[in-house]
Amino acid sequence: MTTIETKYSFPEGFWWGSAASGPQTEGASDMDGKGKNIWDHWFELEPTRFFNEVGPSKTSQFYYKYKEDIELMKQLGHNSFRLSITWSRLFPDGKGDINPKAVEFYNDVINEMILNGIEPFVNLFHFDMPFALQEQGGWVNRETVDAYEAYAKTCFELFGDRVKYWFTHNEPIVPVEGGYLYDFHYPNEVDFGKAVQVAYHSILASARAIQVYKELNQGGKIGIILNLTPSYPRSQNPADVKAAVLADAFFNRSFLDPSVKGEFPEELVQILKAEGFMPKIENDDLEVIRENTVDLLGVNYYQPRRVKAKEHLPHPDAPFMPERFFDNYVMPGRKMNPHRGWEIYEKGVYDILVNLKENYGNIECFISENGMGVEGEEKFRDENGMIQDDYRIEFIENHLKWVHKAIEEGSNVKGYHLWTFMDNWSWTNAYKNRYGFVSVNLNKDGERTIKKSGMWFKTVSEHNGF
Ligand code: BG6
Repeated sequence: MTTIETKYSFPEGFWWGSAASGPQTEGASDMDGKGKNIWDHWFELEPTRFFNEVGPSKTSQFYYKYKEDIELMKQLGHNSFRLSITWSRLFPDGKGDINPKAVEFYNDVINEMILNGIEPFVNLFHFDMPFALQEQGGWVNRETVDAYEAYAKTCFELFGDRVKYWFTHNEPIVPVEGGYLYDFHYPNEVDFGKAVQVAYHSILASARAIQVYKELNQGGKIGIILNLTPSYPRSQNPADVKAAVLADAFFNRSFLDPSVKGEFPEELVQILKAEGFMPKIENDDLEVIRENTVDLLGVNYYQPRRVKAKEHLPHPDAPFMPERFFDNYVMPGRKMNPHRGWEIYEKGVYDILVNLKENYGNIECFISENGMGVEGEEKFRDENGMIQDDYRIEFIENHLKWVHKAIEEGSNVKGYHLWTFMDNWSWTNAYKNRYGFVSVNLNKDGERTIKKSGMWFKTVSEHNGF
């Protein structure tokens, strides 16, 4: 390798890679004994809720093409990659009998990654509740916590000899928001009381999995992946500032505090008590949560949240929502990703890292997702067949500069993973927005071609900087 001057160089051993999830990449959604999860069910029920009516079976077919994909990861300089185990593939009913084909598949994937020098980061839950458990209430039902603990233990026992980085959940607040507040995940309810119980059970499940992992003494690390949205007030007016503090408590600290500190934010507890929404807590739950905090934290960062004080009191009959305490606010003139409608604010990632350093004991962390979804990327394909996604390179670079600054100032951040490795199925958006380093042609049996950003990332990883 030739040495080049890198202006932004990163610490030795920095994790360069990308992240994906089982339900968004595997395909084979009813093959080899896999059980149904909520996505398979919801698509059968309401296909029109999905972009172009494309459902979870038509994904990038990682189930069949994983060898080719891992080879490509290696080519793109990945030293690590996050996948998730599809719960209903391993346990078709969420509990009970194990599917041997799933064990074979995940063993093969993990072995192939290791063979290619790619550290497997394995996540246990990426929005994919087995449907059999959902029918019993999903995360609302405490028995799901027991089933999850058993599932986690099985995964550690089966794969923990080789997997040394585990994650209990990816963005556990999203199933709360999607399934029980804002109607973008099954079961599409709007019920704040259930939302709180789901959040609480997810946190308890995470702590119980961490407890089991520690008992097994496998010598790895276990963490959680959280989507953090730094909350900025419209002005320094105390009412706006208070609105931002509460939005932060609802959307960030609700999971961050129990995961890292083992306790719940007091502001939130006071609101839940005052409004009669405290979850059902049993026996030694709080002790389990207090004692089983994470070793490391994955930070997914896409966009900030801008808020202002509430302008109008909600109608007394309106369902209870976090937005009772603040209004979301789109700041005029900000840079936006027009395809996803999300603000691009690169400094947000730095603000998160500073907050973790100052208020969360500088917990070991890494950027576990960051990325740019773009519609219609085919028009950027050049005559050699490569998508010239310079906008993605610029997006990553601008975020990495802030990560670099945080490291220089002492932040404990150990890596950067892009969302995502190859274009994949994005829930109800299906294949509308493309996020990958590698494009996937759904009309040509999922043919893969490396985008310009993929080649660029290879040099960044090889030189540990840019
Ligand atoms: C994260 C998730 O929220 O963002 C991914 O972990 C998701 O599963 C990604 O695909 C991008 O969001 P979206 O909704 O555009 O797919």
